[in-house]
Amino acid sequence: MTDPQHNLSLEEMDRQSVIHPFTHLKDYASGGLGDPRIVQSGSGVRITDQKGRTYIDSFAGLYCVNVGYGRTEIAEAIYEQAKKLAYYHAYAGHSNEPIIRLSDYILRHAPDNMRRIYYGMSGSDANETQAKIVWYYNNVRGLPQKKKIIARERGYHGGSVVSGSMTGLAVFHNAFDLPVAGIKHTSVPHYYWGAEAGESEREFSKRCARELEAMIQAEGPDTVAAFIGEPVLGTGGIIPPPEGYWEEIQKVLEKYDILLIADEVVCGFGRIGTYFGSEYYGMKPDLMTVAKGLTSGYLPLSGAIVGEKVWKVLEEGSEKFGPFAHGYTYSAHPLGAAAALANLAIVESEDLAGNARTTGAYLQERMQAVFADHPIVGEVRGVGLLAALEFVADKTGKQRFDASAKVGPRVAAACLERGLIARALPHGDILGFAPPLVIGREDVDAVVDLTRQAVDAVTDQLAREGLLKAA
Ligand SMILES: Cc1ncc(COP(=O)(O)O)c(C=O)c1O
Repeated sequence: MTDPQHNLSLEEMDRQSVIHPFTHLKDYASGGLGDPRIVQSGSGVRITDQKGRTYIDSFAGLYCVNVGYGRTEIAEAIYEQAKKLAYYHAYAGHSNEPIIRLSDYILRHAPDNMRRIYYGMSGSDANETQAKIVWYYNNVRGLPQKKKIIARERGYHGGSVVSGSMTGLAVFHNAFDLPVAGIKHTSVPHYYWGAEAGESEREFSKRCARELEAMIQAEGPDTVAAFIGEPVLGTGGIIPPPEGYWEEIQKVLEKYDILLIADEVVCGFGRIGTYFGSEYYGMKPDLMTVAKGLTSGYLPLSGAIVGEKVWKVLEEGSEKFGPFAHGYTYSAHPLGAAAALANLAIVESEDLAGNARTTGAYLQERMQAVFADHPIVGEVRGVGLLAALEFVADKTGKQRFDASAKVGPRVAAACLERGLIARALPHGDILGFAPPLVIGREDVDAVVDLTRQAVDAVTDQLAREGLLKAA
């Protein structure tokens, strides 16, 4: 593809002009990483690139295109709204009809205690807003020292300054001077690697809660304001919580007057079979963060949903400090809201949470059947339409591959060669799946078959390279 104005291919123009997230900048710019995949169209669970190659996208973009690609209902809703009113701000009590209807809709579907929504454009900025709300909340309450936020190792909450600090992955911190002060990380609740011999899931969950309590004690309970967690840990490994985990954690939070922020950016709007992940695990959050599945990525929109306890204090805050002094030009954007309304109407009318339960159960069953005994698969895990395979060099002795073997990325590349997009997660050798919620059984079969071919091909390569400790 060549652009006549420059006599440069689109691929070359991209290399010369775009900074890509999570990309080796120098190798990419010099062409060492090959051509970008320029995605040109999508339909259902498939996307097509500039070379005409079609892939099954079993990661729904970045687990966001829940209603699938090419939904003209959403495109039309955006167009109709853009013709009427593409933009007006929401400062000082200005509003627009789509955002009013959307807020009412979400609050009717959210846990009973949720009261108001503050809108942004990304999961990262919504978590940034959550941190500010938490700090403000304790300033209004006259507890200016109670400000620390505890997240988890391998939790993922975004890439901006505070949300990137909450993220518990070193690669997001190294060389960026993160985390900022006041953001702490407690242990990741991963039973497969973390449990002691003979420890049950429930006992392991209790130990995680004890570790959290010890951290709160060490920091000083009067300095800890909030705990943030994804119902199912996502980018850090797609790790469903062990039995009783949220129950045990919430007991500790209640004891020390610590707010719970449920980061529902991935789980929200049906991904694990309930409308919110909190519902699935009996979480009772004070604050909830939503993005991704809110619009299925058709336009950027996120929300910080505020529960009764915090909302009351925010109201009081206006008496004390004047108007709530937090805002973005694009807060409560009417086009994002129009996209979200059309998207959530599809989620409801096609019962996509129901499909995440039924087709999700089928996906989990197929993954277990095909991979549980595979020599390089240490753990097959997931819930609803979220699944992961974790690769190990020695299954019986539970030994990881050396990171330099890049097993996760190699399997993802082998999937890609076979027309399947699955995502190598950034920590460990983990291949993640989060297909659009419209996926059916036939496509689940195709995902599992192609993955099996890819895993077998990489297993053969690893054996040839002498990297398998026990085959
Ligand atoms: C749980 C969670 N929170 C927050 C974010 C950040 O969202 P965004 O990339 O839209 O800033 C993500 C993104 O993957 C996420 O998975």
